Amino acid sequence: MRIYVAEDYKDMSRQAAAILSAQVILYPNSVLGLATGSTPVGMYQELIDRCNRGEVDFSQVRTVNLDEYIGLPSTHPQSYHHFMQSNFFNHINIDFSQIYFPDGMAKDLEDECRRYDECITNLGGVDIQVLGMGHNGHIGFNEPAEFFTVETHVVALQESTRVANARFFDCKEEVPGQAITMGIGSIMQAEKILVIVNGSDKAKAVQAAFAGPVTPQVPASVLQLHRNVILVGDREALNGLL
Ligand code: F6R
Repeated sequence: MRIYVAEDYKDMSRQAAAILSAQVILYPNSVLGLATGSTPVGMYQELIDRCNRGEVDFSQVRTVNLDEYIGLPSTHPQSYHHFMQSNFFNHINIDFSQIYFPDGMAKDLEDECRRYDECITNLGGVDIQVLGMGHNGHIGFNEPAEFFTVETHVVALQESTRVANARFFDCKEEVPGQAITMGIGSIMQAEKILVIVNGSDKAKAVQAAFAGPVTPQVPASVLQLHRNVILVGDREALNGLL
């Protein structure tokens, strides 16, 4: 694993954007695995700026997102689809037909999970997967569990995750209780993984994930088994590793 220490959130965002830009410049039709949440917002903004300056061209990339809430249509302001449109896709020269999400409104959710894994396989797999990390060590919506779930699946969100995500909704009760997430196996199959973390509140999770045992109780700890992980974090988040 390579660790890049950033001075602050802006620096983390800039360093992460530089890595993704390099991927797209070198391999213009890359499959980018993308995340939502607060952490990547600055990175997306930096990528938008680079695109607007003509430094990076997204016209051939394909994207797959990690997860989506169940029960929210893609137009819902808190759906992850909507988040990606407003924070990234609407501002770059991406081909909207090449953006892929799990469908949280699908009638048959099991079927939808299989479809999504097939979709990723048909794209040729993910070239670089961006991950944020939850306070409990979750990646995507793979919450602490007794075992690692390999494939895309339906999850019940932990109370702590719903509380953490309530900031985007009017109240905690509005946060959906379930989501579809890429599984640990789907994530681990990515060619490269770019983990971004910032803030002292993430320090314990980062330390447990990268300096503790590999265990499904800390889902991100599985990344220790991946051959090509790049961790970009600010000093506060990386405190326990430095
Ligand atoms: C989002 C996702 C989540 C977040 C994690 C951190 O697509 O998969 O695992 O990356 O919850 O969220 P933030 O960045 O808001 O702290």
